[in-house]
Amino acid sequence: MVNNLNKDNILSLVREYAREKHCREPFVGGDKLGYSGRVYDEEEIVNLVDSALEFWLTSGRYTKEFERKLADYIGVKYCLFVNSGSSANLCAFMTLTSPLLGDRAIRRGDEVITVAAGFPTTIAPIVQFGAVPVFVDITIPGYNIDCSLLENAVTDRTKAVILAHTLGNPFDLSRVKSFCEAHNLWLIEDNCDSLGSLYFGKKTGSFGDLATSSFYPPHHITTGEGGAVYTDNPLLAKIAKSMRDWGRDCVCESGQDNLCGHRFDGQYGQLPKGYDHKYVYSHFGYNLKATDLQAAVGVAQLDKIDDFTKKRRANFDKLYNIFKDYEDKFVLPQPEKNSEPSWFGFPLLCKENVDREKVVRFYEENNIQTRMLFAGNITKQPCMKGVSYRSTELKNTDLIMTNLFWLGVYPGLDDNAVSYICDVARKMNSILN
Ligand SMILES: Cc1ncc(COP(=O)(O)O)c(C=O)c1O
Repeated sequence: MVNNLNKDNILSLVREYAREKHCREPFVGGDKLGYSGRVYDEEEIVNLVDSALEFWLTSGRYTKEFERKLADYIGVKYCLFVNSGSSANLCAFMTLTSPLLGDRAIRRGDEVITVAAGFPTTIAPIVQFGAVPVFVDITIPGYNIDCSLLENAVTDRTKAVILAHTLGNPFDLSRVKSFCEAHNLWLIEDNCDSLGSLYFGKKTGSFGDLATSSFYPPHHITTGEGGAVYTDNPLLAKIAKSMRDWGRDCVCESGQDNLCGHRFDGQYGQLPKGYDHKYVYSHFGYNLKATDLQAAVGVAQLDKIDDFTKKRRANFDKLYNIFKDYEDKFVLPQPEKNSEPSWFGFPLLCKENVDREKVVRFYEENNIQTRMLFAGNITKQPCMKGVSYRSTELKNTDLIMTNLFWLGVYPGLDDNAVSYICDVARKMNSILN
């Protein structure tokens, strides 16, 4: 029996173990270069074990701390930790269907403006609910919605705009916001690929009525699986919490009872007066909560976010410097005006004389992972069979589907790794002619 069995001693051993067993080795030529991945040190592992030893498991003190820290970081009042970015999008969308929003609630058959060039679960909740996605084309080389097409896309059934900041590059928030205000539309910012991006010096995710994050390992910070929904609007925050927590009306945390002091004296629907408020449901909701173990990792990750953002930008700049010599072959990415993206990746659009498949194979054969812009043009995916939608002409969306790929810029790419990418890029001439 170990005689110094206390938590501090255990955690200090964990710290030592993590330093030794989880230290990141510098890149050497021949290593496989992922497009992204977890970047962490002993702090995440110590927090994770600390939470495991508490064995609270469901949302608890680390969740509270993570939600507070993330809200402060983004610059919003309310934040809810959920179990994925896809769940965050589901929660945010379903929030806008609440009867508590009266005439502004999204109903089946209503339209939601979005783009077809992106990740499927940005728009999946629209389709699953029975609303109609309206796909607007994008611009090149920003890869975000073409705002000049917005006025033609709107009808009297339009209720919301839902858009991601593509690969970290903010969409034109000024134009989209004023369009939403002019037509009384909700705006959801899918901020899953853009945590830390700035628009006029303000964090993306603080502009929409609601915004979402993903903390799946390739994203800007990770909790393994995980996501968040955030807002400044107290009513939307209350509805989102209800949607996340089984649809219930009560706002008590896990394990808490009678926070409001009125647990047994309310009148709800046609229930008997005084029916236990813990079991009153104002919505048909979900259980989208994450665990305190995930939040514990997130708390340590948030301490590193500013450093991560700096590295993503620096890696992007280094790749830009290399690829600017190939502008006859590729369209290079361009940040939105008045923005400072925290890039998720480095998109390259092959010009007509360049075969994307050949280029992608070249990088993969040189151990450098590549990625497509997710679903390409979602209207061409098998999941769209039988789905009703409207769209503008999607010429640029088709072009990114056929000609675009992207390389990683994540903070785990050290100077050696970035130099290796640059060396490989310089050898591209052998396949480009
Ligand atoms: C823009 C965007 N939204 C949503 C998601 C979904 O996040 P998750 O994988 O955590 O469900 C992703 C996933 O990468 C994404 O890129």
